[in-house]
Amino acid sequence: MKRVSILGSTGTIGVKALAMIDLHRDSFEVVALAARDNIDLLEQQIRRFSPRIVAVGTSKSATILKDRVKDVPVEIGWGDEGVLSVATAAEADIVLSAIVGAAGLLPSLAAIKAGKDIALATKEIMVMAGELVIAEARARGVRILPVDSEHSAIFQCLGGQNSCEHLKRVLLTSSGGPFRQRPKGSFASITPEEALQHPTWVMGKKITVDSATLMNKGLEVIEASWLFSLTPQQIDVIIHPQSIIHSMVEFMDGSILAQMGVTDMGLPILYALSYPDRLQSPLPPLDLNALSALTFEPVDHERFPCLGFAYQALQAGGTYPAVLNAANEVAVDLFLSSRITFPDIPALIAKTMDSHQGRKIDSLEDALDADREARRLVLAALQT
Ligand SMILES: NC(=O)c1ccc[n+]([C@@H]2O[C@H](COP(=O)([O-])OP(=O)(O)OC[C@H]3O[C@@H](n4cnc5c(N)ncnc54)[C@H](OP(=O)(O)O)[C@@H]3O)[C@@H](O)[C@H]2O)c1
Repeated sequence: MKRVSILGSTGTIGVKALAMIDLHRDSFEVVALAARDNIDLLEQQIRRFSPRIVAVGTSKSATILKDRVKDVPVEIGWGDEGVLSVATAAEADIVLSAIVGAAGLLPSLAAIKAGKDIALATKEIMVMAGELVIAEARARGVRILPVDSEHSAIFQCLGGQNSCEHLKRVLLTSSGGPFRQRPKGSFASITPEEALQHPTWVMGKKITVDSATLMNKGLEVIEASWLFSLTPQQIDVIIHPQSIIHSMVEFMDGSILAQMGVTDMGLPILYALSYPDRLQSPLPPLDLNALSALTFEPVDHERFPCLGFAYQALQAGGTYPAVLNAANEVAVDLFLSSRITFPDIPALIAKTMDSHQGRKIDSLEDALDADREARRLVLAALQT
């Protein structure tokens, strides 16, 4: 029996994880849940899974939720303190990190410090502070199990390991997003609604926009470099519109292994939670006869510059990846509220990166400082 805490239980990943857990009640027990605003869904999750602790974003939400579930024995906290108590709940063996964006960093790091294994969905954590996170996990003997389908694929191709002396490179696959074939000349008229129509995956808003700009793949490149100790030159990205191959590894003799599966996050979530075991999945099997073709094409960096920015940030190191991540989060928010156009997203990120003076990251405070500075810089760049 594994005891699980979930950070971001009301999001796409959190909900899918609970659906998987629900099917395997003899293998998992839910001990703690954290979210921000969605108290309707949290109430349902409390009634179904009986966690001991729950956290929400504000004291107001906590008061409303407490009143709604006064018939249930559950401790309800709020704010940073609340989410930290979910992250470090004493009984938990594993914490699913699925709060979107930089907000996931502090609780995930607290969970690692408390010795919890991490099922990692929030890639932004590795982008902001990958070196610190990996160092802390090694020091505590904590496993970081990838939930991102690409990193889960690599992890599976490496036989459930994070490294292999014979590895030459990894190939991260990308669907290419909804604008793979759209001419660049019409990018300025892309609406948030269009950007939220992903061709192959159902995801939260921020990651869906990141997939449309290919920044998601850029964040994944940085995540892969930390999870699998790879240089930027060992990580390639290839467009694979069908999203059936989730990623590949190439060994030094030229042999390539690929992991395939249906496009459902239930698969990598279940593997991360059940590792090193495998559990029965409710998902339909991948029907190879129904596939007409698996195709591949190179990335068009001219139309999708965000991926290149991520490689540059990884190469430059220090605070640059954290700055890239924060600038992107702010730019995506601005785009979703129709305050900037789709091409403004890479333009604002580029301006922010250019105006930042890179520094080393020696501590969590350094990463958080870089994050705050980038949020100020991107808003300043918006005025120019
Ligand atoms: N969705 C996917 O297929 C997928 C695949 C791979 C990786 N990921 C990564 O997984 C993470 C989550 O993605 P998602 O698609 O599940 O996002 P999502 O649907 O937007 O859900 C985000 C979750 O985070 C919670 N949250 C947001 N800010 C918070 C805060 N300050 N404190 C506490 N909770 C907070 C939200 O709570 P409320 O709902 O209450 O606001 C919600 O539970 C992202 O980092 C994403 O890159 C997602």
